[in-house]
Amino acid sequence: MTPVLTIDGPGGAGKGTVCMRIAAAMGWHLLDSGALYRLVGLAARRQGVEPDDAAAVPDLAQALDVRFEIDRDATRVTTLLEGDPVDEELRTEQAGNDASRAAAIPAVREALLQRQRDFAVPPGLVADGRDMGTIVFPEADLKIFLDASAEERARRRQLQLLEQGLSASLEELREEMEERDRRDRERSVAPLKPAEDAWVLDTTDLDIVAVVDLILERLRDVL
Ligand code: C5P
Repeated sequence: MTPVLTIDGPGGAGKGTVCMRIAAAMGWHLLDSGALYRLVGLAARRQGVEPDDAAAVPDLAQALDVRFEIDRDATRVTTLLEGDPVDEELRTEQAGNDASRAAAIPAVREALLQRQRDFAVPPGLVADGRDMGTIVFPEADLKIFLDASAEERARRRQLQLLEQGLSASLEELREEMEERDRRDRERSVAPLKPAEDAWVLDTTDLDIVAVVDLILERLRDVL
């Protein structure tokens, strides 16, 4: 069986960076499941369909035409939706919100389930999302739930945006983030919550290096 590490948690807790670093340290594959939901939202917008349209969006999720292209020196991945690079569009707050609306439709989640499980191939997988440990990989070798205070998460998201040359008010970011988290936690299917056997790690007062080290240590213990 391919070893799997799942890292779930709300937006802005640092999952993306932590998962990337752990995948690189272990030489494992990485599944950014949020990107799949973002792509579904984008595909809906392209068709002029609202992302929470339960009649139309599941078919779009099923037919999602996406490719991840790794550049020659393996330092950058380009995401292609129907052949077009969409990475910039994918990272906007609007795409996050559209993803969260599409992700609340049970048939959309169903349509993406096998596609996500197919990422679990040797030598191992780091899976980043909201329901990786609860639904997609319930048999994972190690499950982490990364959390941080809403204030700290908004601050981290603001920094991330600044690095991309974008600015946003902390207050607005926090409100948007809380709204999205509320929708993710309260939805009827695959709500955001720690798996019963997850290690809940509050990263409010920890930096990325410390979080990565803690997880790597635990991962090496269980393998
Ligand atoms: O992690 P990211 O911000 O890219 O996720 C965007 C949205 O996709 C989340 O707010 C959530 O609604 C949805 N999502 C999900 N299940 C996952 C990953 C993401 O419902 N496993």
